[in-house]
Amino acid sequence: MLFFLCFSSLLSSSFASNAFQSTSTALDKAYIIQLAPETEFSGSLSRRDAHITTFHKRAASIEYDVRYEFKNPDVFLGVSIQATGNASDEELLPQLKAISGVESVSRVYSFGIPILPNISAPMDPMLSYSDPPQLKTAAGAGNLGSSLQMGGVDKLHARGIKGKGIKIGVVDTGVDYRHPALGGGFGPGHKIAGGASFITDDGNVANSTDPLTTCYGGGHGTHVAGILGMDSVPGGFDIVGVAPESTIYMYKALDCAGHSVGDTIISALSQAYEDKVDIVSMSIGAGTQSFSGAVDPLANITKKLTDAGIAVIVAMANDAAGTPYAPNLYSEQWPSTETTAIGVGAISNTEFPLVYSAEDSTGTTIQYASVYPLNVSDGVDVYLLDNGCDSNDWTTALSTIKDINNTIIAFGANLAGQGCKATSAGSWAESSITPVYIMAYNGPTTNPVNSSQEDPYLSAYDTPSQGFFGTTQFINVNSVYGVEFTSNYASSGGYGKYKLNFKSSNFTSAPQPSGGLMDYYSDFGPTWHDYTLKPQISAPGGHVLSTWPLGPLGGYAILSGTSMATPYISGCFALVKSQFPGATIEEVKNRLQVTAKPTPWVFDSSILAATPQQGAGLVNAYDAIFSTSVISPGQFTVTDISHTEYGTANITIENTSGSSKSYSLSHQGAGYMDYTLEYQEKNQRAIYGTAAFSQSSITIPAGQRSSIHVSVTPPSDIDPSKLPVFSGYINIVSDDKDLHIPYVGPPYSLFNTPYIKIQNSTSSAVFPRIWSYNQTVSTVDTGVLEFVAENGFGSSLPTLQWTREFRVDVLPANTTVQANNYGFDKDAEYEYRSSAFTPNSTVFGHESFGTLTVLLGYNWPSGNGIFRSDTIVTGSDGGKWAVGNGDYRWLVSALRWGGVSGVLGDYDTWLGPVVRFVSK
Ligand SMILES: *[C@@H]1O[C@H](CO)[C@@H](O)[C@H](O)[C@H]1NC(C)=O
Ligand SMILES: *[C@@H]1O[C@H](CO)[C@@H](O)[C@H](O)[C@H]1NC(C)=O
Ligand SMILES: *[C@@H]1O[C@H](CO)[C@@H](O)[C@H](O)[C@H]1NC(C)=O
Ligand SMILES: *[C@@H]1O[C@H](CO)[C@@H](O)[C@H](O)[C@H]1NC(C)=O
Ligand SMILES: *[C@@H]1O[C@H](CO)[C@@H](O)[C@H](O)[C@H]1NC(C)=O
Ligand SMILES: *[C@@H]1O[C@H](CO)[C@@H](O)[C@H](O)[C@H]1NC(C)=O
Ligand SMILES: *[C@@H]1O[C@H](CO)[C@@H](O)[C@H](O)[C@H]1NC(C)=O
Repeated sequence: MLFFLCFSSLLSSSFASNAFQSTSTALDKAYIIQLAPETEFSGSLSRRDAHITTFHKRAASIEYDVRYEFKNPDVFLGVSIQATGNASDEELLPQLKAISGVESVSRVYSFGIPILPNISAPMDPMLSYSDPPQLKTAAGAGNLGSSLQMGGVDKLHARGIKGKGIKIGVVDTGVDYRHPALGGGFGPGHKIAGGASFITDDGNVANSTDPLTTCYGGGHGTHVAGILGMDSVPGGFDIVGVAPESTIYMYKALDCAGHSVGDTIISALSQAYEDKVDIVSMSIGAGTQSFSGAVDPLANITKKLTDAGIAVIVAMANDAAGTPYAPNLYSEQWPSTETTAIGVGAISNTEFPLVYSAEDSTGTTIQYASVYPLNVSDGVDVYLLDNGCDSNDWTTALSTIKDINNTIIAFGANLAGQGCKATSAGSWAESSITPVYIMAYNGPTTNPVNSSQEDPYLSAYDTPSQGFFGTTQFINVNSVYGVEFTSNYASSGGYGKYKLNFKSSNFTSAPQPSGGLMDYYSDFGPTWHDYTLKPQISAPGGHVLSTWPLGPLGGYAILSGTSMATPYISGCFALVKSQFPGATIEEVKNRLQVTAKPTPWVFDSSILAATPQQGAGLVNAYDAIFSTSVISPGQFTVTDISHTEYGTANITIENTSGSSKSYSLSHQGAGYMDYTLEYQEKNQRAIYGTAAFSQSSITIPAGQRSSIHVSVTPPSDIDPSKLPVFSGYINIVSDDKDLHIPYVGPPYSLFNTPYIKIQNSTSSAVFPRIWSYNQTVSTVDTGVLEFVAENGFGSSLPTLQWTREFRVDVLPANTTVQANNYGFDKDAEYEYRSSAFTPNSTVFGHESFGTLTVLLGYNWPSGNGIFRSDTIVTGSDGGKWAVGNGDYRWLVSALRWGGVSGVLGDYDTWLGPVVRFVSK
C-alpha cells in the first residue's frame, strides 16, 4: 500500500554547536567518479586508459569537462569531471551513479592551508618577484636553531644523521626551488628531486611536472619545504631543516590563495604513490566535516597509502582564527582525523628568532620583530593611528604625513576592546599613497578573553608572512615595549616630535612567554565518536624561521601554525626511518611518541596539557633513535574493551640494549576537558584517573621483551552528557630514560552510558516527549496521547552521545518489546484500539508498522525533533504508507558504542506512551 510524499523533518537543535557542521564547501557540479577495478583493466596503463575511455563513452549524454584522470588502481581508479550543461546537481548525481562500471560518485570538497592570522590571505596573493631572484640575510647573535634544539634534532645532525635516503612527498602550494637553501634547482640529483603540479597559481586544473611557485601568497610550500630540508647557504640565514639530506618531492595542489579541492589532492597523492615516497607531509585541512570513507574517497586513499608503507603526516589545523584560543575538544580537521594518519599539534618556539632594536627620541630602546632590520635613515617620524583597522584613520594619516619614505605608521594590535589584529590592518586601499613602513605594537591583552591572568600568548612578538602587506614593510613590537612606546610617543608630543632611530641592524632572539608549550591555535582531538587520540604528537610550529619565495623581501619568513609543526614531524620521521629502514610506520611512530616529552598546560604549569591538545608531547628525534627500550603501543584510548570491561591495555617493553634493565611503571594525569568548557574558562581541569599495573616494576634481560597489563580507572562523578574526556600518561622509567605512553578516553563506559536523554521533572521539560500542537503535555500522565494527525504533532527525542544508528519505529501499542526506558506507567490500564492495518515489518524481531526515521553514520548528540502531520511510516521495503487510526507506540533506539546493528540489547531504547490517532 503506497502513499504519496511524506513530510518528515529531523531537526538538529542540538547542543553540539554549528561549528561542527561542514566548514567545507563543494565545487559546483564537480564529481569524483570511482570506476570499478575490473580485473582485465588493472594491468597496463593503456588498459586503464581504455577503462576511463569507456566511461566517457557511456557518459556521452552528459555535458562535462574532465578535471583529472586517476589511473592507478592501487590508489584510485577513476576520473573527476565538472558538468557544463544545464542539468542540476539533483539530476546529475543519479545519472552518473547509474552508469555501468561506476562504483561511487563523490563531490569535490574544498581544502585549504590551515588559516592563521599571520598566514591568511595576503593583500595581493599573486604578488611575485620572480625576476631577478634575491636572497638576503642579516647579522646577529640570536639563536636561530632553537626549534631544532627543542626536538633533539641538532644532536642528530652533529652525528651526521640528516635523513639520507628518505623520500618525502609534500602536498602544498608548490615551492620556489630556485632558492639556494633549497638546492637552487629541480629534478633528480637536487634536494627538490621531483614532484608535479595539479593546480595553477590562480586555482585552475593543471597537470604538469613543474611545481615551481614564486607568488608570495603561495609561499607556504616553500616555508614547509625549508623546515623539512633547507641548507645553510652563503647569503642566507644560518639555519637548516630537520632532515636536510632527505629528498623532497613537491606536489603543488594549492594555489596562491592557499585553496584547493579534493580531486586535486587525490591527484597529488596518487602521484606521490607512483613516485614511491616514504612519507607524505600534508599541512592542509578540509574543515571539521566528517568525511567517513563512504563520503569522500580521500579517506580511503589515506589508508591505501599507509597500507603501502607510506606514512601520512597531517596538520591538526588551527582553529583560532576568530578567537584568541583554539575552541575546544573535537576540533581537529579532516584528514588529520583519519585513524591511519599521524596528526600533528604545534608548540611555540622557545625563542622568537629575529628581534632588532631601535632607539626612540627619548633614548629608550624599543625592540621589534622583523625578518630583516629596517633599512631606513636615522630619525624617522612616527604617526600613531587610533585604530589600525579603521580606513578613515589611514586616509587621515596618509594625507597628513609629509615624508612617507621616512615615516612609520604605528597602530595597536589586539588592544582590549578594539579587536584589531595586525593582519586586519592595511585598510589604506582608498588612499593613493601606500605606506612604506608600518608597525603594530601589541596591547597588554589578557588571553583568554575575560581573564585577569597574565597573557602567555599575545604579549609575544608576531610577524605576518613576507609580502603580506605587499611591499609595505611590517615590524612588530611586543606588549612590554608597546607600553613604553605609546607612553613616550604621548609625552614627546606625538607626530612630528617623536622619532625612532634604526641604527643597529644586528639581531638577537627573544625568549617567548609560551615557548615550549602548546601554541594557542593548535586544534584539539580526540576524534569524535571513537576517541582516537589526536594529535599523535607535537612539534615546534610557532614562530618558525624558514625559506620563502625569493625577491626583494629576502627569501625568508617567520610563520606559525600546525602547518609548520607537520614538516618538522615528517622530518623527524625521516631521521628515524633513515636509521631503521626496515621499521614499519607504526614502529617509527611509536618510537617518536614514547620518547616525546609531555608539556605543562600554558595556563597552569601544575597541570600537564591534555593529551587531546598535545598528543604524546614535544617530539625528541634523538631519543626516538637512541632509546634502547622499544615500547608499544605509542598511544591508547581508554574505553570499553568489551561490554563489561573498560580501560585496559597491554604494554610491551623490549630491551634492545646489551644489558639487563629495570623499569618502573606509574601513572600521571593530564588535563580533563569537556565540551561545555569554553576557552574563555581556560578549558582544562586537574581531574585525573588512576592506573593499576600487573607489575609496577620489572627487570628485562638484554634483548628480551615483556608485557604488562594496565587497567585505568576514570575519575568519578563526571557527567557523560558533557562529552568529557580525561587524559594522562603511563610513565615507564628505566635507568637511563623516562618514556611515556599518552592516553585519552571518556571517563565512563561508552556501551553502558545512557544514549537517550530521560528527564522526568516537573520543573523543566520532560524528555523524550511527543505532543500534539493542540494538546498540552499533561496527556503524558494518562499514558494515552490522542492525536488528530492532520493537526500536526511533534516530538523531542534527544540523544546524549554519538551514535552510528538512531531510529524511531512505530509499533502496535500492545507490543511486548522490552525497552530500557518507558514513557508510561506499565501497570496503567487502557483499552487497546487496534489499527485497521496489519504490521508488515519487524524491528528487533517484533512486529512493526515501519519507521519514522533511521539515521546511519556518525550522528552528533542532537535534539532529534520529529514533526509530522500525517500517519505515514516507511515500510521495510522502502515504501511509504499511512497507518491510519489506532493505537501505536514509538520505539526510539540509539545504537551503543561497539554495539551491533539489529541486536536489541546493543541499543539504548525508549518505548513511548500510546499514540492514538483519531479522526477529526
Ligand atoms: C596527467 O597527465 C598524464 C599524461 O597525459 C596522464 O597520464 C595523467 O593521468 C594525468 N593525471 C591526472 C591526475 O589527471
Ligand atoms: C653585528 O654582527 C656582526 C656579525 O656577527 C659582528 O661582526 C658585529 O660586531 C655585530 N655588531 C654589533 C654592534 O654587535
Ligand atoms: C571506502 O572503502 C570502504 C571499505 O572498503 C568502502 O565501503 C567505501 O565505499 C569506500 N568509499 C569510497 C568513497 O570509495
Ligand atoms: C619614496 O621612495 C621611492 C623609492 O625609492 C621613490 O620612488 C619615491 O619618489 C619616494 N617618495 C618621496 C615622496 O620621496
Ligand atoms: C592483554 O593480553 C591478554 C593476554 O594475552 C589478553 O587476554 C587481553 O585481551 C589483552 N588485552 C587487551 C586490552 O588487548
Ligand atoms: C489544532 O491545530 C490545527 C493546526 O494548527 C488547527 O487547524 C486546529 O484548529 C487546531 N484545533 C484546536 C482545537 O485548536
Ligand atoms: C513523572 O514524574 C511525575 C512526578 O514525579 C510522576 O507522577 C509521573 O508518573 C512520572 N511519569 C513517568 C512517565 O514516569
